[in-house]
Amino acid sequence: MLKIVVLVSGGGTNLQAIIDGVQEGTIRNTQIAAVISNNKSAFALERARLAGIQGEAVSPGDFASREEFNSALLKRVNCYEADLIVLAGFLVKIPEAMIDAYENRIINIHPSLIPSFCGVGYYGIKVHEAALARGVKISGATVHFVDQGTDTGPIIMQKAVEVLPDDTPKQLQQRIMEQAEWILLPQVIDAIAAGRVSVVDGHAVVSGS
Ligand code: GRF
Repeated sequence: MLKIVVLVSGGGTNLQAIIDGVQEGTIRNTQIAAVISNNKSAFALERARLAGIQGEAVSPGDFASREEFNSALLKRVNCYEADLIVLAGFLVKIPEAMIDAYENRIINIHPSLIPSFCGVGYYGIKVHEAALARGVKISGATVHFVDQGTDTGPIIMQKAVEVLPDDTPKQLQQRIMEQAEWILLPQVIDAIAAGRVSVVDGHAVVSGS
C-alpha cells in the first residue's frame, strides 16, 4: 500500500481528483494518510474533512522564521511515514531538507508542458497568461519529481490540451485542469503505487500500463 501525504494551498480540486480516484479505484493500492495546508482557510482542508482524511495546517505566520516553519513542516510530514509526498497546488517553496530526505518521492503537478512556461515566477494564472501571450496552440500539464530546482525534476507524465483562439487565461486554466491535471495526477499516483515508475540517469521511466 502506497501511503501518501498531499500538500495543498487552495481550492484543492487536484486533491479532490485524488480522493475520488482512491474511492473509485482508479488509483489502486494507495492510502491518503494526511492533507497538510500552509493556509488554514484553504477549501482543500474542508475536502479532506468531508472525505474523513486527517487534515492540518502548518502556516509560516505561526513561526518566528522561515527555518522554523521549514523544520515544522518536515516534522509533520515525517509523522505520517509517507512513501510519497504529492504537491497538489502547494504554493510554498519546498525546504531543501525535505527534498533531500524524500529524493524521487515528491511529485508536483505543473499546469504547462514543461519546459515551457515553468520555473521561477510561473505559477497559478501567470502560467496561462504567458502561454496566451506567446500564442501557443497547445499547452497542458506535467507531473514531475521535485528536485532542488524549480520545475526541473524528472518528468513523469505529460498531457496536452488545445488552446482555443479566444481563450482567456481563466478559461485555459480551467480546461487544463479538467482535461489534463485531474486525469494525469491520479494516473501518476496509480503508476507509482504499482511500482511502475523509476528514475534512470535523471529521467523518469514509466513501464507497462
Ligand atoms: C493547479 O492549476 C495546479 O496545477 C497548480 O495549482 C493549481 C491548484 O489548484 N500547481 P487546486 O488547488 O488543486 O484546485
